[in-house]
Amino acid sequence: MKKVGVALLGLGTVGGGTYRILVNNKSRIEEEYGISLEIIKIMERDKKKAEKLGVPLSVLTTDINDIISNPEINVVAEFFGGIEPAKTFLIQSLEAGKSIVTANKELFSKNWPELEMAAKKGNAGLYFEATCAGGVPVIRTLNDAMQANTITAIKGIINGTTNYILTKMSDEGADYGDVLKTAQKLGYAEANPEADVEGYDASYKLSILSTLAYKTAVPVNAVYREGITKITNADIEFGKEFGLTIKLLGISKKTDKGIEARVHPVFIPKTHPLSSVKGSFNAVYISGDAVDDIMLYGRGAGDLPTGSAIVSDIVYAGLSERHKRFPQVLRKDNCNFISDFESEYYIRLLVNDKPGVLASLSGILGKYDISITTMVQKEGENVVPLCFVTHKTCEKAIQNAVSEIKKLPDVIEVSNIIRVER
Ligand code: HSE
Repeated sequence: MKKVGVALLGLGTVGGGTYRILVNNKSRIEEEYGISLEIIKIMERDKKKAEKLGVPLSVLTTDINDIISNPEINVVAEFFGGIEPAKTFLIQSLEAGKSIVTANKELFSKNWPELEMAAKKGNAGLYFEATCAGGVPVIRTLNDAMQANTITAIKGIINGTTNYILTKMSDEGADYGDVLKTAQKLGYAEANPEADVEGYDASYKLSILSTLAYKTAVPVNAVYREGITKITNADIEFGKEFGLTIKLLGISKKTDKGIEARVHPVFIPKTHPLSSVKGSFNAVYISGDAVDDIMLYGRGAGDLPTGSAIVSDIVYAGLSERHKRFPQVLRKDNCNFISDFESEYYIRLLVNDKPGVLASLSGILGKYDISITTMVQKEGENVVPLCFVTHKTCEKAIQNAVSEIKKLPDVIEVSNIIRVER
């Protein structure tokens, strides 16, 4: 039976989950796939972590050279997180001819060209199923199951922490700060929760998914990003009146004009399949010209769900005779990235309850060719919240209209602007 030597870099949450899956499923993988996955080395300083998992201390090392120079090791799976030393170790492994498996979305999305070059040099493979949506096999789907399609759009709930927070706020009226603390306790949130709530984590994942889907490099800095920190319970309640649910989505589209990629809070109709994705679950909705729309759903984080994706990659790497290449990340073509994208908009204002306020508002919207679909005004004393949803318009038109609306004497504040995606 073919032996595949595996090294694990780190035994944290996902590293530990991967170890357990590899040990518990060893004989089943041998039977079903005809390869024997042998854990040769584990780079981990903390002996207690190893002992807890029942790892034989003889496989532990703190020296990367024990891995890079070991000819028995074919696959290196990385769980360090952060950029360094993970990046250097992965590049050294690839150049030494070892395929790499990683869940490190920040490192992967920001350094894909360098990793691709090192993989080519060492004739090794890049495996990164676990970078996007944890245990949901979305990379495999894009790489191996959509060949018949030109992919036109991706819409994804690709950050579990923010989906957990927004679900708790929507379903239970919970307070943003309290729920964030619970998400951190439950272990969904990144070490620095800004990565989740400001949309960075989702932007790394959208960059990777879009680069695969459109066969064009969509670097992280081409992804427009906005987080969920400005979303209030008031917006969520108004949204419900319009039949809308709030989500942090990663959205990318390929149109005749170019590619748009953005991460921001979005209102979606409560009838949209993504609206039913609650708590820390992830889901990716992909549109292809042949298959139409598909949706993949599951756990986007956690030791065993992410470990499931890692082990699948290890098996794939072990079985591959020819590793997949990603030439798009090395091409210097001039893809047009659209920043003035089209959307519908939800706008919430605080206004003086006086005759003529609506007329002055609609005058400004008319000037920018923006049409309103629905409007709600709440009762109040003198100052009242006013909320409306527009038809599709472009980003620039909304920004220009809002800056004029802010100057109206009877507009106390523009409380929030949220895009609406159907
Ligand atoms: N912090 C991430 C999330 C973990 O909340 O989805 C998985 O990437």
